[in-house]
Amino acid sequence: MSDAYPTDLPSWQALENHFAAELRFQNIAELFVEDEQRFTDFSLTAGDLFLDYSKNILSARTRELLIGLAHEAHVPAAIESMFAGEMLNNTEARSVLHVALRSTPSDDVASDIPGVAEIWQTLDKITAFVDGVQQGQMLGCSGRRLTNIVNIGIGGSDLGPVMASRALRPYWSPGMSFHSVSNIDGTQLIDLMELLDPEETLFVICSKTFTTQETMTNARAAANWVTERLGAAAINQHFAAASTNHEAMDVFGINPDYRFGFWDWVGGRYSIWSAVGLSLALVIGSDRFRELLAGGRRMDQHLRTAPLEENMPVMLALLGVWYNNFFGADSQAVLPYDNRLDRFPAYLQQLQMESSGKGVRRDGRAVQCKTGAIIWGEPGSNAQHSFYQLLHQGTRLAPADFILPVVSSGGSQAQQDLAIANCLAQSEALMDGYHDADSPHRIHPGNRPSNTILLQQLTPGILGQLIALYEHKVFVEGVIWGINSFDQYGVELGKRLAGDCFELLHGDSGRDAENDSTKGLLARVKHWRP
Ligand code: F6P
Repeated sequence: MSDAYPTDLPSWQALENHFAAELRFQNIAELFVEDEQRFTDFSLTAGDLFLDYSKNILSARTRELLIGLAHEAHVPAAIESMFAGEMLNNTEARSVLHVALRSTPSDDVASDIPGVAEIWQTLDKITAFVDGVQQGQMLGCSGRRLTNIVNIGIGGSDLGPVMASRALRPYWSPGMSFHSVSNIDGTQLIDLMELLDPEETLFVICSKTFTTQETMTNARAAANWVTERLGAAAINQHFAAASTNHEAMDVFGINPDYRFGFWDWVGGRYSIWSAVGLSLALVIGSDRFRELLAGGRRMDQHLRTAPLEENMPVMLALLGVWYNNFFGADSQAVLPYDNRLDRFPAYLQQLQMESSGKGVRRDGRAVQCKTGAIIWGEPGSNAQHSFYQLLHQGTRLAPADFILPVVSSGGSQAQQDLAIANCLAQSEALMDGYHDADSPHRIHPGNRPSNTILLQQLTPGILGQLIALYEHKVFVEGVIWGINSFDQYGVELGKRLAGDCFELLHGDSGRDAENDSTKGLLARVKHWRP
């Protein structure tokens, strides 16, 4: 990886000049007039995904300079160093090997790194367990089938299984259902307790560390419920776990046959490919789970072999840098036109904002340019009736990624055709605008950039490609900015202070809050607290 600040690289300077002199006020629609081949020239295929990036404020020269930036930032070498198992997560002294989880042994991805050789044994153990539950060989304590799968986790130990299980709803095995509990306030579990029969429920405690307050609090509450209803011995057959912390799984009393390990080189937000995917696998089945992994691997191969100008994650990353650092865009919208992807924006929020929300470089020096954008979004037509007003006529630049499956994900194709029409109409309206209005209030200025990622259907394999696409996009952006995309120290301080605030709330320490606002709020909370 390059030690230089990106802003010192010759291509960055060239991009600044190019932006100021040519692209700042460039009209996208004019670029289409100048180049009849623009759609062909500015679109590309990776596996089963098709990316149209022609509706961006970018010329062939811009792309050339951005590719130059990727070379000067040593992106190709960085990609290979990830697959070689180099310690890319330097602040935590770890390799970054979610790519190994979806590789095959013959790919030989970082095979010398401890743990890598165990990947496929663990996958086989997951397969046997999932098959056992689905085929009714592994039953609840009263002999009933375990059909309600409840994932207890938070962050990457929640968002991946939740997002993917919702996206793959048509692939749920008959009779299986997926539920999740993540938040600390306990209401999700209370609601589930009303809905579910504990005799048919399998809780999957999903936590890399097995110490996370939210997860362990919810797991203990679930264990109490099962114990009250079915007796303490039922924990053995009604709790499974995915974690790197074997001791803590012992202490909790997780049955050794129901526990699945992974390794410290799997980051939480990159962990859906590991045992963290257990609850997902339990509802979609082990074959479908392996198809998801194969999809991720397909995108890995694309990343490693496609030239930079035909490389989809690299192109998305360069567009991200272009808007973030040259146009000054603060945010990036994600707009899937398939309600099954309703948690995909939330999934990408953690992936991108926890990875790229950094102000310090890998080498400890402060960054000298903006890093990660704010990611936000909602499924398509709901969003049209909510915040698209701002996208069309507001004063901020918010580049958008439209994600569009062509074949309905289990609904009627006639309705999906309407979703397709809406998606295409929106990207066109954003770009072309509407200028002939009789009132200034009706004018749409246009020239608002977007990508469209087209896919035939939301299958496990294609979802795997889509997730890996964004993982690699985030990685490449991080390489260019010179940050470590794989640590998350920014979430620690609040966790520590929460312990303090909890103590103050209960008031048994005799201490008071140091901050006047916290002190005042605590006094009001105590007054109102039952
Ligand atoms: O607080 C952030 C975080 O560390 C995430 O990175 C992680 O996905 C989440 O908490 C959950 O952590 P764990 O899997 O260890 O419970």
